[in-house]
Amino acid sequence: MTNTSFVHRFEPATSAGSPPLLLLHGTGGDENDLLGLGKMISPGSALLSPRGRVLEHGMPRFFRRLAEGVFDEEDVRRRAHELGDFVSEARQRYGIAAPVAVGFSNGANIAAALLLLEPNVLAGAILLRAMVPLSDSPKAELGGKPVLLLSGQGDPIVPASNSARLAALLSQAGADVTHKVLPARHQLSQADVTLARDWIGNVAAEAA
Ligand code: MLT
Repeated sequence: MTNTSFVHRFEPATSAGSPPLLLLHGTGGDENDLLGLGKMISPGSALLSPRGRVLEHGMPRFFRRLAEGVFDEEDVRRRAHELGDFVSEARQRYGIAAPVAVGFSNGANIAAALLLLEPNVLAGAILLRAMVPLSDSPKAELGGKPVLLLSGQGDPIVPASNSARLAALLSQAGADVTHKVLPARHQLSQADVTLARDWIGNVAAEAA
């Protein structure tokens, strides 16, 4: 059993039809970072927002990296399982359904790892500027889980070939992937918010 204590924020749902969101920040962020984004894209959803437990020069992250875009994959695996355990415990504690992850950058990468390593933890995911998290990806069974992958055309951190590979990998694992490449760099744009909001509205409508 891993130590599942994450510093986190939880905000209960204010409307019954909206899926809970697991908010996963980027490098140097914290549990407060994505609360505003979560409220914008899915008003009324319960929000579960942990702080990454790895520190890189004092900046919180969800797993160790050896260099930008070069991951310590053993740590990716370990931390994804830790996060999975945290989500399971938080679901019991707060009485919420399996969440849809909303991850940005490093948070999107751990969400992608979670999908591949623990396919039952998430109901779906919005991956903002994500990369392939593991070079030898496990054979996951994602059974039609909805995934929105939003990439930036001019992203200096995530090469176009890498995000295309991630989309293919998740599709091959059975996810229902929507991949859009936006005229943006690594940082988020208004288009990310609009597309994420519309997508999650459809997911909630289909689940109802
Ligand atoms: C990562 O380390 O997960 C990626 O390089 C994205 C980032 O956090 O900069």
